[in-house]
Amino acid sequence: MVAKGTYTPGERVPSIRQLSRQLRVSVNTVKAAYVHLEDRRIIEARPQSGYYVCPSLPEPPREPDIGASGTAAFNPAEVDAGGLVMRIMADVMDPGRVQFGAAVPDPALIPAEKLNRMLAAESRRFREESTGYAMPPGSLRLRTQITRRMVRSGCTLRPDDIIITTGATEAVFLALRAVCSPGDTLAVGSPIHFNFLQLFQSLGLRVLEIPSSPTDGISIEVLEKALREVPIRACLVISNFNNPLGICMPDERKRRLLALLARFDVPLIEDDINGDLPFSGRRPLTVKSWDTAGRVMLCASFSKTLAPGYRVGWIAPGRHFEAVIRQKLVTSIASATPTQLAVAEFLTSGGYARHLRAIRKAYRAKTAQMADAVGRAFPPGTRVTRPTGGFTLWLEMPRTVDSLALYGLAREQGITIAPGRIFSTTDRFGHCIRLNAALFSEKTRWAVEAVGRMAHQLAGDGPAQDSTD
Ligand SMILES: Cc1ncc(COP(=O)(O)O)c(C=O)c1O
Repeated sequence: MVAKGTYTPGERVPSIRQLSRQLRVSVNTVKAAYVHLEDRRIIEARPQSGYYVCPSLPEPPREPDIGASGTAAFNPAEVDAGGLVMRIMADVMDPGRVQFGAAVPDPALIPAEKLNRMLAAESRRFREESTGYAMPPGSLRLRTQITRRMVRSGCTLRPDDIIITTGATEAVFLALRAVCSPGDTLAVGSPIHFNFLQLFQSLGLRVLEIPSSPTDGISIEVLEKALREVPIRACLVISNFNNPLGICMPDERKRRLLALLARFDVPLIEDDINGDLPFSGRRPLTVKSWDTAGRVMLCASFSKTLAPGYRVGWIAPGRHFEAVIRQKLVTSIASATPTQLAVAEFLTSGGYARHLRAIRKAYRAKTAQMADAVGRAFPPGTRVTRPTGGFTLWLEMPRTVDSLALYGLAREQGITIAPGRIFSTTDRFGHCIRLNAALFSEKTRWAVEAVGRMAHQLAGDGPAQDSTD
């Protein structure tokens, strides 16, 4: 009824009891349906008042044209991600810009004082240990804490299943080094986090991009066809609150993905860096939680939830444990010890669960507000994802808008955005951009409005009305 316009944005929808009577279903059924509609941000609860239709948002992105991908020949691509990504990364380091380009957390939501206090205290407490190598697999205390937390993701891991890494990037790098050789083909959900494309390039890997649906994640149907036709060495997916699309793969799809890969005996590298950041409800499960054969190499870090600069990540590489340890030793011997000690202490006594509740709520609000601002500022026809966790938004603009040109214009105004082109080896996302909603606030709203006006210009429909005029 919302889609048909029976209920319009801002209007109150029937109460749970009313609808339960009207449809002759139980109150719990209506409640569950309303939770689902809330998650998709179609309705919102207002305390002591009821449920209302959310402010109007642009349409979500279209489903990818799986039909076309399903019939095309599978041609793994060589990756040439170099120059542009490096330039964009350099901009992202520039504190003078409004940083919508990098998927970094809001510095105001990093528990910096507490973490840094723990860093100092733990380094004093473990004076000798803190300055020596934390030889792989790394701090036992930290690995123990990680296994306790991961119970929520359906994984029963032992500390000895985990290896501490320098961020999730190194975790994925080690996983790739452990199972792939130069020239091998890797299947990945597309679009894909652009840093990974650089990693693939540096390892001489070829990439087969499997389309991702904005609701279900990687297309298992296309992947199955590809597995039958092309030798694929490994598969990589960002399963929960994917970067850039924000998708959380439904459990049924996760299970099917693992069953399919098992059939072809292909290892899965699962990046779960955003798994702790659902906007509501339970932490989602990981594909790893169904893995009884050690096929999944689960990678994550505390870069989105605690502090990216601490560089504390980890991998649970299943049956590839020894190979990953070997790669870790030759790559960096060990990861920095003091930050491992500090994160272990934060997980033990720092109120991590409470911290997560606070940042999830903040990111949920920021993502909704930024999507709303995009809806007002960007050209008609712009579509935007409805993430249910994490903090990135993916925009599909009219095809006439070249996201690289938009990136250049925004850069001149001191704003960074991530152009869609860098998320793929193809030019399929040339009209898309990713925005970091973590840094959206009333202070940076102007930057969304400015980029929206630039997009209007590039779309050829003239500058939009400035809302402040
Ligand atoms: C999906 C995904 N994986 C990995 C990373 C890198 O994480 P880290 O800083 O822990 O290396 C990022 C950071 O943006 C990411 O979005």
